[in-house]
Amino acid sequence: MKSFEKKVIIISNRDLKHGRFILSFSDKQIAGAASPGQFLMVKVSRGLFPLLRRPFSIHNCSGKDGRIDVLYEVKGPGSRLLSQYPPGRVLEVVGPLGNGFSLPEKGRGVILVAGGMGAAPLFFLASRLAAERSKRRIYALLGACGKNRLCRPAEFTAAGCSVKLSTDDGSCGSAGYVSGLLDSFLNSPGIIPSAYVIYACGPRPMLQATAFVAGKFGVPGYCSLEAHMACGIGACMGCVIPVRSEGGREAYKRVCHDGPVFSLQEPDWGKM
Ligand SMILES: Cc1cc2nc3c(=O)[nH]c(=O)nc-3n(C[C@H](O)[C@H](O)[C@H](O)COP(=O)(O)OP(=O)(O)OC[C@H]3O[C@@H](n4cnc5c(N)ncnc54)[C@H](O)[C@@H]3O)c2cc1C
Ligand code: FES
Repeated sequence: MKSFEKKVIIISNRDLKHGRFILSFSDKQIAGAASPGQFLMVKVSRGLFPLLRRPFSIHNCSGKDGRIDVLYEVKGPGSRLLSQYPPGRVLEVVGPLGNGFSLPEKGRGVILVAGGMGAAPLFFLASRLAAERSKRRIYALLGACGKNRLCRPAEFTAAGCSVKLSTDDGSCGSAGYVSGLLDSFLNSPGIIPSAYVIYACGPRPMLQATAFVAGKFGVPGYCSLEAHMACGIGACMGCVIPVRSEGGREAYKRVCHDGPVFSLQEPDWGKM
């Protein structure tokens, strides 16, 4: 897959409150090559600190001018610096990187399962699927620790998804983990689990629980994983995860190059 190293100009860097921002820029080449699930490596400073580029999912690509949105949360020095950049500032980005999601076959229903900021790459998938204008059912199951941490439910609804919410503390939607919401959804009357495919992103324990529920109901699915990344292009081996292999041999894959999207049953969750 083709990727580009570009200097782009920030169009906007919108504060969504609660430490979250949407950064937007235009680049026709990156947007033209990007598919849902892929990510960008962003150089967050002009100086030496932080030295390493930071990985961020492509949240959406839209319009003829190749507008790209990145939804991010302030976590440490890199994302804090990024949140201070005004429109007009030049940013160095490399992308699109990684494999992206395999798109579902025609007619198959889709269940997006997001834990917190895991909604970031799933929104691009939702908008791509919405653009198909097919009769496919798309459910977005969005979970978070509390009401304020739920990620963009109104936007998922506007993109044509039937949205269901869960919060760990019960402040909005059903109380409990989003994997529990998935379990109840797949158990609901009228839902035929084998007619769906799951796309999940979020913290690892949430993905592990999602893989368990998917396995229980025999639903195929994919997850987008995060890992600490240095190069982002498969060279440093800094992002490897253990995967299941035939014959029980130890096997590893690079999240940046072989992923970030894996089949839900591929990571060796017990060893992560
Ligand atoms: C493929 C991929 C896509 C991503 N997409 C997004 C996105 O769309 N939006 C977003 O907000 N974030 C995303 N992230 C996470 C993002 O890269 C980190 O939050 C960011 O690099 C933090 O940089 P920092 O300098 O602000 O903080 P740092 O000081 O680097 O880290 C702050 C804290 O977060 C932890 N951390 C940093 N990176 C990761 C990671 N990859 N996995 C688990 N813990 C981590 C550190 O251990 C530390 O505790 C993605 C990561 C990957 C690998
Ligand atoms: S970050 Fe270097 S190999 Fe993945």
